[in-house]
Amino acid sequence: KGEKEEYVEVDENEKLPHSEQKKWEAEQLASARFQFGAKDAKAQEEYELLLDDQIDFIQALTMDGSKDKTSKEPELSEAERKRMTIEETKKSLPVYPFKEDLIAAIKEHQILIIEGETGSGKTTQIPQYLVEAGFTEDKKKIGCTQPRRVAAMSVAARVAEEMGVKLGNEVGYSIRFEDCTSERTILKYMTDGTLHREFLSEPDLGSYSVMIIDEAHERTLHTDILFGLVKDIARFRTDLKLLISSATLDAEKFSQFFDDAPIFRIPGRRYPVDIFYTKAPEADYIDACCVSVLQIHATQPLGDILVFLTGQDEIETCQEVLADRVKRLGSKIKELIIIPVYANLPSDMQAKIFEPTPPNARKVILATNIAETSLTIDNIIYVIDPGFCKQNNFNSRTGMESLMVVPISKASANQRAGRAGRTAPGKCFRLYTAWAYKHELEDNTVPEIQRINLGNAVLMLKALGINDLIHFDFLDPPPHETLVLALEQLYALGALNHHGELTKLGRRMAEFPVDPMMGKMLLASEKYKCSEELVSIAAMLSVNSAIFYRPKDKIIHADTARKNFNHIHGDHLSLMQVYNQWVETDYSTQWCYENFIQYRSMKRARDVREQLVGLMQRVEIDMVSCLPETTNVRKAITAGYFYHVARLSKGGNYKTIKHNQTVMIHPNSSLFEELPRWVLYHELVFTTKEYMRQVIEIESKWLLEVAPHYYKAKELEDSTNKKMPKVQGRATMTE
Ligand code: CDP
Ligand code: MG
Repeated sequence: KGEKEEYVEVDENEKLPHSEQKKWEAEQLASARFQFGAKDAKAQEEYELLLDDQIDFIQALTMDGSKDKTSKEPELSEAERKRMTIEETKKSLPVYPFKEDLIAAIKEHQILIIEGETGSGKTTQIPQYLVEAGFTEDKKKIGCTQPRRVAAMSVAARVAEEMGVKLGNEVGYSIRFEDCTSERTILKYMTDGTLHREFLSEPDLGSYSVMIIDEAHERTLHTDILFGLVKDIARFRTDLKLLISSATLDAEKFSQFFDDAPIFRIPGRRYPVDIFYTKAPEADYIDACCVSVLQIHATQPLGDILVFLTGQDEIETCQEVLADRVKRLGSKIKELIIIPVYANLPSDMQAKIFEPTPPNARKVILATNIAETSLTIDNIIYVIDPGFCKQNNFNSRTGMESLMVVPISKASANQRAGRAGRTAPGKCFRLYTAWAYKHELEDNTVPEIQRINLGNAVLMLKALGINDLIHFDFLDPPPHETLVLALEQLYALGALNHHGELTKLGRRMAEFPVDPMMGKMLLASEKYKCSEELVSIAAMLSVNSAIFYRPKDKIIHADTARKNFNHIHGDHLSLMQVYNQWVETDYSTQWCYENFIQYRSMKRARDVREQLVGLMQRVEIDMVSCLPETTNVRKAITAGYFYHVARLSKGGNYKTIKHNQTVMIHPNSSLFEELPRWVLYHELVFTTKEYMRQVIEIESKWLLEVAPHYYKAKELEDSTNKKMPKVQGRATMTE
């Protein structure tokens, strides 16, 4: 049992009296959204509100499990599935009948595009076929890239199990800050970003016989750049086989890019999925999700539910709400197992995703769009799709990048729906209207390369000696102004000289698998003699959203605990204090629990920190501390993040220096009420407004010290020296 469960425990005193309980149940019903009944076998264009059918729903809610015995079970129940041996499971996958043909095609062609529905066995099976066919003889490896770290880890674990080897030996994975491979590894799963970095140490990928660029349709920045890199090396490494594997649609485009490489199509197996829409837009889709889950659970035949949410925060909220409601409904409903899935999910919890559902229970998986194509979870019959995802968006005019929740594309919506029809006919509940689907969703998701900051990618390419980026072979080129802006930023950071060539500083920055600004910050800690502090801060920032725990029933306690860590100069320093105090307790779990801090996140921060310390040694920076003085810490941060600076303006708003954009301090920040004149932020999050998250106070004169080529003294003049009056009555906001 993790610490987490103890937090969500409902206090006995909070149990509702009988009449209240009834009222609560009725409210649950009143907000129920979909109608289920005899009709629902047919696809309905819209569902009606349940209001007039409450009685049915109450009956369904209070009924015991007997009803489900008569209803049709999914064709392959988990129990049956479990009985199948690994061999049988492998043989049941759609790719299996094509094993020989596929190997023959790979032997014949250097580059092959492979297209097949999610769950066909591309990621787990094809590399194993290649091992069997002898591609790993002569000490060469097979590599397979994944856009997401959880996918890389879980797939490697699965394949190790199928091959009967220990994870990290013959089969391993490598992701940022974590390498689980050894000398013996012949099958290596890795994130696309990791392969990108491998080019630095092995530009010809000499140790690989086959490289699979998997999930190519996801079109992440790293995958897109890999296309250009692998295409280039394939010309002189004629013995290297390249497989580009994709779930849908883009195969033709990939084929054209790779000089008309042949396409190998794995015919999909797909059951029909009925699509339901809501009649009116949902004001609160988290709540709508919870209600829908319970409704499906109470009225629909067994089969697991997959819910698409945008991030860890939402998933945790939904998990809490559901756990609470399930608890109150008690024995009136069958067991509901709630499983979260998101990018930073600790590895010990990942295994749970694939555990078979016990008989007579139902699993509900709360996932980010990682479950859209990267992870195949069997036995999903119901999908709930609120229609949003979190995206990094970059405005090349203002140079501002921010994380925002945006509507998904039609292509995504269809992928999500498809998850319901893998093992049996399924149902997909879209928490938006049919009209919105038709008129408001874009056809396709814009590839990442066209919408995010390219600083990191440009630095990597420069480090690989690719100087002419304008003529780099991009599948879809990034907008010209984004590329120019990235070059300018790297120049301002001192990573490039005025010829656009990598400087010594730039070369050192490229050693760090982090954003160039963070790289610069870490390197600046040498000058400011605070490497110990900066490494902790960088590690904490890399897990930041998940450090503090705020259970609904203990919000006041949690917030008080959090305030104890507040540092007068801002959040980076607060995070540092959290880390340092935890170290003092000798990494205590109990301490985390008492202070409403997520132990798992801290453990991860510790791992990341260790990696960073190793990298600091590689660039020959000694680990030194400047405590208790902290001015230098803030100066070193400023040396990296001087773009992210804003000045106080009217009404508690801030304006960014160069572009005069209005931004605000996030209510979670310790500086929310302080309103210092000059602030530096780590990131922007767009909700109702542009919010700066993780903020410290700085002095404007530091900007001239750390970035004299970027800031002019005139820009930084204060019109007045008086402290701005505090603004009253601003509404607080939770995330
Ligand atoms: O790559 P593709 O989407 O074509 O399929 P895959 O990921 O190779 O999945 C093939 C099968 O392996 C599916 O039935 C998955 O449920 C199963 N699998 C698993 O049980 N555990 C994992 N960690 C990954 C896949
Ligand atoms: Mg796959």
